[in-house]
Amino acid sequence: MTQQGCDIGLIGLGTMGRNFVLNLADHGFAVAVYNRTAEKTKDFMDNEVGARPIQAGYDLQEFIGLLRQPRALILLVAAGAPVDAVLRELWPLLSPGDLVIDGGNSHFTDTNRRGRFLSGKQLNFMGLGVSGGEAGARYGPSLMPGGSREGYDRVGPMLEAAAARVKGEPCVAYLGPRSAGHYVKMVHNGIEYGLMELIVETYDLFKRGLGLTPAELASIYDRWNREELNSFLVGITAKIFTRQDDRTGKPLIDLILDKAKQKGTGMWTSWDAMDLQVGTPTIDAAVVMRDMSGYKEERLAASQVLAGPCQTFKGDRQRCIGQVKNALYAGMIATYAQGLALLQKASATYDYGLDLEAVARIWRGGCIIRAALLEDIRSAYKTKAELPNLLMDPHLGKEFLSREADLREVVQMAAALGLPAPGLMATLSYFDAYRSAVLPGNLIQAQRDFFGAHTYERLDAPGAFHTEWEEE
Ligand code: 6PG
Repeated sequence: MTQQGCDIGLIGLGTMGRNFVLNLADHGFAVAVYNRTAEKTKDFMDNEVGARPIQAGYDLQEFIGLLRQPRALILLVAAGAPVDAVLRELWPLLSPGDLVIDGGNSHFTDTNRRGRFLSGKQLNFMGLGVSGGEAGARYGPSLMPGGSREGYDRVGPMLEAAAARVKGEPCVAYLGPRSAGHYVKMVHNGIEYGLMELIVETYDLFKRGLGLTPAELASIYDRWNREELNSFLVGITAKIFTRQDDRTGKPLIDLILDKAKQKGTGMWTSWDAMDLQVGTPTIDAAVVMRDMSGYKEERLAASQVLAGPCQTFKGDRQRCIGQVKNALYAGMIATYAQGLALLQKASATYDYGLDLEAVARIWRGGCIIRAALLEDIRSAYKTKAELPNLLMDPHLGKEFLSREADLREVVQMAAALGLPAPGLMATLSYFDAYRSAVLPGNLIQAQRDFFGAHTYERLDAPGAFHTEWEEE
């Protein structure tokens, strides 16, 4: 602790909170900590802190008293009602100019509401997206701050020290006002859902279609992770397939119940994409498949009565594996393209002033969606900040096009085998829709005009037209 008090405070000593405190302290910052249940604080202080510059407050008043002024403190508590509960108790204890940072996965509209409330109390507020799980929090997360610029100028050096680094650059940047940081984190998670869904579809094709064993799968994904698919998610997938169950000695993956859970951030991304009328079909498919995975009992019953094609692949297996790899890479490009197109629209609509090159830069390390591909994505926005869609970047467009035929074949293969691959299928349709100069929206307009006199526009004349479709 400096003479004037701790540099920063942290409320919420869950795994993320504890790890982030240790990370900040290891970078030389004095940290004050507080947790609602005092035993957790005591346990942390007794067992993890050691000689680090960390002080505990056992009630909020004591905690606040440990901080130097103007104060800066981070909340790492569960998103939703707990954040409001802490803020209600906290704000009356603070002084004008103090800074509160919410580091949870809060919904961006909550962040806007809280920011308005606190600024009415002369307090600064930031919504901070934190990605990278426990290891990220401890050794370098990707940080997505938004909200008070003045607040960022104060804590920026601490966040930069604690963040992951790629090629010397910290994976943090001030993203914009109000909820800009939490919005970017929400879309990060939407992309995370999309990438995970694409990967699990390739697994399903390999497992049920090609009958590959976990050991074979481990070697494929490990190889992929050393090539252009290099990414955190492909890397952990390879590792998952190598793990044997302690209790049975069998591959653990085969013993895990196939019901995928979710905390909602992928769904929020799809909701807001629909609200802003930006197509994010790969992400939407990922959300739907998590929901459908939950209908285990219904699926078991349906599997007895709804027959489908034989799921065994009969073609050239090596060729197939190469095609699936290309399909996955194309899918990854399209998933980032959808997420970043959403960010572009959100930035214009909500007036965030996002710099998409900075977003791609801070996603290159520390976070769950870090991938070698983000270097190319960053370059694309460096060359053209207003790029409407990553598929229109000459390099990434070419990368996608060179894999398009394989994506098409893999989608056909999945359909022929009766294996669900909605992420890959949606990706292909997204591409086909995006590159279509003409879509069948004309018929929708005619139908709307037929049943509701909603009018339509014409290709050959300006204005709104209506036709009496039912002739006497
Ligand atoms: C991250 C993750 C994290 C997320 C979990 C679980 O960036 O570190 O996105 O924030 O909460 O991965 O998310 P789901 O429970 O929704 O799968």
